Amino acid sequence: MAGRAHFSIQRNGTLLLSSSSFFHNSINFGLTHLKNPNFFRPKGLSYSSRGALYCSCSASNGLEKQLSSDPFVLTTPLYYVNAPPHMGSAYTTIAADAIARFQRLLGKKVIFITGTDEHGEKIATAAAASGSSPSEHCDVVSQAYKELWKDLDIAYDKFIRTTESKHEAIVKEFYAKVLASGDIYRADYEGLYCVNCEEYKDEKELLDNNCCPMHLKPCVSRKEDNYFFALSKYQKRLEDTLQQNPGFVQPSYRLHEVQGWIKGGLRDFSISRAAVDWGITVPNDTDQTIYVWFDALLGYISALSEDKEHSDLQSAISSGWPASLHLIGKDILRFHAVYWPAMLMSAGLDLPKMVFGHGFLTKDGMKMGKSLGNTIDPKSLVDRFDSDAVRYFFLREVELGNDGDYSEERFINIVNANLANTIGNLLNRTLGLLKKNCNSTLPVDSAVAAEGNTFKDSAEDLVAKARTEYENLAISSACEAVLEIGNAGNLYINERAPWSLLKQGGDAFEAATKDLVIVLEAMRIIAVALSPITPSLCLRVYEQLGYTEEQFNAATWNETKWGGLKSGHVMAQPRPVFARIEVQKEEEDVAQVVKKVSKKKAKIPQVQTVAEA
Ligand code: MSP
Repeated sequence: MAGRAHFSIQRNGTLLLSSSSFFHNSINFGLTHLKNPNFFRPKGLSYSSRGALYCSCSASNGLEKQLSSDPFVLTTPLYYVNAPPHMGSAYTTIAADAIARFQRLLGKKVIFITGTDEHGEKIATAAAASGSSPSEHCDVVSQAYKELWKDLDIAYDKFIRTTESKHEAIVKEFYAKVLASGDIYRADYEGLYCVNCEEYKDEKELLDNNCCPMHLKPCVSRKEDNYFFALSKYQKRLEDTLQQNPGFVQPSYRLHEVQGWIKGGLRDFSISRAAVDWGITVPNDTDQTIYVWFDALLGYISALSEDKEHSDLQSAISSGWPASLHLIGKDILRFHAVYWPAMLMSAGLDLPKMVFGHGFLTKDGMKMGKSLGNTIDPKSLVDRFDSDAVRYFFLREVELGNDGDYSEERFINIVNANLANTIGNLLNRTLGLLKKNCNSTLPVDSAVAAEGNTFKDSAEDLVAKARTEYENLAISSACEAVLEIGNAGNLYINERAPWSLLKQGGDAFEAATKDLVIVLEAMRIIAVALSPITPSLCLRVYEQLGYTEEQFNAATWNETKWGGLKSGHVMAQPRPVFARIEVQKEEEDVAQVVKKVSKKKAKIPQVQTVAEA
């Protein structure tokens, strides 16, 4: 049956199923497992009187209804270290960082988890290709991720590597729990495997020549004797969970996709590999290693463990599980919204409160990715444009959930229009007028300056809108609402033209200085409300407004209330906070680099000539 997906499971020597459909034709093992007394009683999810599950936190899109005493635990996927990070992987982390920063502004204790997924065939192959051992290779690439997160102002709290010993201990303990629930069995498996997805594929999902639709590479036929997880047993519970708690998978159109998969029938999946050495060995069978996904998903829990060496599941769980939000790309939704909840149910642990599947950054309509090699290097973007520009562009341009294409022209236009003009210029020219006319000192409280002024009302409405958008993870809309305050400020100052009123003296002068205070108050609010998106830029704005870095770091969402600027407060000397990207300069910089490189090249033969002489 060459080239056809073929699935066969043998259990106790009996052929139970043969099918070409992964999610159809589930295997039924009877109902004994459903009566497992260890079945979970989660904090976030609880039984309704009908025995179904419902979420006590929220059935809505918002995250604000979580109990205020719970930490807000947010995760990015753990990134494969087969290649250095690219803009697609950076995107998830930038978005997660913005969400984490917003939650901190709300005064929440946040545990923001990221890390690297370091086991499996794909990593071992990449290490071999680079001529290093798997562990040396993982050290290098994992470090590259850490450095990139620093460059991008990512303020994570925990970085877990799946090669850490504390992680291995937790994976083994979890495996033992699932085994004790009767959910692991041994069987033969034959099918088509995509190494890049690290997943057996169903033939009907594949393109011509059995190519994976995501990676456009042919899947390989594999036959193995593996351990299986009895996913099919959890079909009903998963269905009930999603029905009772539709907010579990976001955005809602992804929920329908997940419900479709489950409805189509769940098939057990193989959780070990006989032919892969680079992994955590299966307890009691050192010939097999644990499947990368059954290993990596546990990183969300092991990351919580405070202990470096001797961690156990219970202590990790008590440090913050269940997670409030798993932010992931849509390609790994099945693992997070089907496999992972079933695994947790089997181990008697709480489910995460929400799984949000965002869209892809694309190039020419194709998913940007390491395997396709059509990536953008985030480090070079940061070096050329700085981290605020990169963060702003991707968060503003791509609404979380949708796909978005990168274009350099659009990048430069948006960043210049919004950050350099709307925010930077407005601040700079207002501070210039204040310096010239009031010695950089506020003549009146902003609350008094804005009495009866409708500009204040619109700023308040917009900041309230921004908060709601952030809470609903509509980050682009949140950016837009904050930028609207800046646009309104520009309109206001242009209409009022304080520069001419200031020349008139008397009441006109006084009215104009009030206008300056009003605009500066708006800038102060913007600096707080936009800080989840562009933290460094917002710090510079705050400093221009006469505050210290400590004051900026201590600011909370309360500081977005109108009235923070007080009479007598002294502003800093006006300095540009964001340099406009000049296309011409950009080209010159590139020309400079090319020149240097060609000079170097030209020098090499001369040196050789001298040496030879
Ligand atoms: N190692 C697994 C995750 C295990 S989590 C327990 C993995 N790693 S990955 O490096 O391939 O992908 C990590 C994340 O990057 C995924 O959420 C994926 O969707 C995201 N992205 C990779 N390329 C992307 C784009 N082109 N655009 C947006 N995000 C994409 O999967």
